[in-house]
Amino acid sequence: MSNGFRHHMFICSHERSPEAGRECCAAKESLELIKAIKSAAKTEGIPNIRVQKAGCLGKCEKGISCVVYPEGTWYTLTGEENIPDLLEHLRTGQVAEHLRMQGGIE
Ligand code: FES
Repeated sequence: MSNGFRHHMFICSHERSPEAGRECCAAKESLELIKAIKSAAKTEGIPNIRVQKAGCLGKCEKGISCVVYPEGTWYTLTGEENIPDLLEHLRTGQVAEHLRMQGGIE
């Protein structure tokens, strides 16, 4: 893989004001979740992966939005209960089917 990582996970941390009239992932506590995933991945010592916060990924109503490369798998995250499945994806490439973003990602 060209970026040198086996898996590269991006999670939206975009924040909007309440008046913006559109949902945002930060309001669903995505920043806290990103920190928890990073910390768990570090504790497990999973090599050659990166977990990174991203700006708006354009799927705001389906967030917390997350995409994992190289597979290009989109997830809707709900909280720390997702961490074991996400770590499994980072470790083995196994997709967590029940977390897949629903309704298409186009
Ligand atoms: S605010 Fe998270 S995808 Fe747009």
